[in-house]
This record gives sequence, C-alpha cells and structure tokens, in this order.
Amino acid sequence: MLNDDSKAEYYRDRYPREHPMMEHHHGKLAKLLELIREDLRGELAAINEYASHMVEAMEAGYNDIARVLHHIMLDEKDHVASLTKILNKYDPEQRRAFMKEEPGTYSIQDQ
Ligand SMILES: [Fe+2]
Repeated sequence: MLNDDSKAEYYRDRYPREHPMMEHHHGKLAKLLELIREDLRGELAAINEYASHMVEAMEAGYNDIARVLHHIMLDEKDHVASLTKILNKYDPEQRRAFMKEEPGTYSIQDQ
C-alpha cells in the first residue's frame, strides 16, 4: 500500500495538472476510488469462495444448497459489475484501459 507522499507522486506523474483526478488526488474522490478497488477485491474473492463452496455442496449431494450458493455468487458478480462501472465513470485512466481494444500493449511511452 502506498503512503500519502507516494500516492501524491503517483497522481502527479500520471495526471496532468488540469485533469480532474489531479484536483481530487488529495480529496475525497481519490480516497473513495481506493475504497471501491478494495471492495472490488472483496467481491472477486467472494465469487471464488461461493464457487468453491458450491462445488463442495454438489459433491456432497446437496444440490439445493449448491443452487442457493450459485444464486449468491451471481449477486456478487452483479456487485463486481456495479463497482467496475463506478471506476469506469470516475477514473479516466481506468476508463482508457477499458476502451483499449488490444490488451497487453503497454509501454513506457503510453504514460
Ligand atoms: Fe457483494
């Protein structure tokens, strides 16, 4: 995890002064986006856990339990989509990454 000085440096290096993220890099939006990314991590981990538990339930012969776990897992996927949409809306750098057609083409010059 970056400390506050490192975060300021990170944003200064990546966002031009007139960029909206620069205005907010010490403010509430940057902190909120950081929290959203942590929430996203939790949702993704939850999906994997429910998938694993669902398999356990099926292997134990409890398909009714597996169906409930599957339903919960689908809810978690909805949560991932909702949080991702927030990042897409408020983090322009992330939005640009979503818009790229060919992944894996990053270079130093891209920044
Ligand atoms: Fe969730």
